[in-house]
Amino acid sequence: MPVKMPQPGELEPIERASRDELQALQLKRLRAALQHAYDHVPHYRRAFDAKGVHPADCKALADLAKFPFTTKGDLRANYPFGMFAVPREQVVRIHASSGTTGKPTVVGYTKADIDTWAHLAARSIRAAGGRAGDIVHVGYGYGLFTGGLGAHYGAERLGCTVVPMGGGQTEKQVQLIEDFRPDIIMCTPSYMQVICEEFRRQGKEPREMSVSVGIFGAEPWTEQMRRDIERSAGLDAVDIYGLSEVMGPGVANECIESKDGPAIWEDHFYPEIIDPETGAVLPYDDAKGSAEGELVFTTLTKEALPVIRYRTRDLTRLLPPTARSMRRMGKIVGRSDDMLIIRGVNLFPTQIEELVLSQPELSGQYQLIVTREGLLDEVEVLAEVTPAHAAADRAALGRELQHRIKTLIGVSTRVSVGLPESIERTLVGKARRVIDKRPK
Ligand code: DLL
Repeated sequence: MPVKMPQPGELEPIERASRDELQALQLKRLRAALQHAYDHVPHYRRAFDAKGVHPADCKALADLAKFPFTTKGDLRANYPFGMFAVPREQVVRIHASSGTTGKPTVVGYTKADIDTWAHLAARSIRAAGGRAGDIVHVGYGYGLFTGGLGAHYGAERLGCTVVPMGGGQTEKQVQLIEDFRPDIIMCTPSYMQVICEEFRRQGKEPREMSVSVGIFGAEPWTEQMRRDIERSAGLDAVDIYGLSEVMGPGVANECIESKDGPAIWEDHFYPEIIDPETGAVLPYDDAKGSAEGELVFTTLTKEALPVIRYRTRDLTRLLPPTARSMRRMGKIVGRSDDMLIIRGVNLFPTQIEELVLSQPELSGQYQLIVTREGLLDEVEVLAEVTPAHAAADRAALGRELQHRIKTLIGVSTRVSVGLPESIERTLVGKARRVIDKRPK
């Protein structure tokens, strides 16, 4: 499939600006953002004062390191509207994270924030190869989750025809894809696999679908998953990253011409990579990027909910710019919350995903069941065969996977390979890869 290269004039000037120009803009915006947070959010005033820093101390971008971090806990402690930097009446939209434990995290947007978000989501879709006139099928959930409305506003802003399908109702998704013939689909990568399965279940070939670009995100996914989806659905799979606390989808987006990790829209969000243990900023170098650590974001232009040094818990590295003037992030390895420690070895679900997807008899669906035997954590890996391999020797496939996990990752696991569709699919929201059965 020919890759849609951006034509001269299609990019915004800032996407092609020099690093110096970009950094000058960042510093100007950063100083204003720190002042805005300090002046209008009691939490930030207290936190800055407690650390003995004042917005005026930020004279260079590196000075940001002197400022305190913000965590999900800070947002929760100020539930629901205590982190807003504008009178509530100026907040035109609320979103909230699902909050499996305790209260949800609430975020708010002014009219200008919604405008910035639509602009950056449009920039993201364009980076993925979308253009005015394309039909965009949105399969991210609508509602408190930022995925659906974020993608929707972005696609409308770009001048596309939006199909606001939302998550779930997989049969209907397939019907609308066949009838409306969208050019672009936006959903979680795991749900794209489910849509492909539904095509096959109906005796149809997913490669025949009209879609030429998939913009996938909201959950970690590997290069193997990208290849699997591209092969199954015959499209270009592009990575979109974002989080509610910082904005929603479109904080960073991969460029279709390079597919080398999402370009961070650095004119609006300033990234740092820190050592998650010590909080120290890891050095970045224009040739090599940074080492792997926790991604931290400071919003440079947000009005309603400025976040200063927000700890995302996402583990990745910063990479030098390629297709745009902005730096890129590597694929998210996982969230520090999702890391399992099995007999002293760190394990992320994405590592298992790579191995599952490289065994062609397995469907790519997997789950990790974590239990505790005495003092030790144990992991059982559940995988399943594809319908085409329903009659395969599942015990032998399980032994093979177990052996590869042991030799390549270094952890001992139990592996069970089930019949086709034996693993529960996530139809709405993010795939649940880890089922934690350890006593709390
Ligand atoms: O998931 C926003 C979003 C919607 C992004 C649709 C992309 C597409 P939250 O629900 O607040 O917001 O979850 C944010 O999801 O900190 C990451 O751990 C994870 N995440 C999001 N995008 C990616 C991605 C949305 N491309 C959390 N790769 C983030 C890996 C991702 N993880």
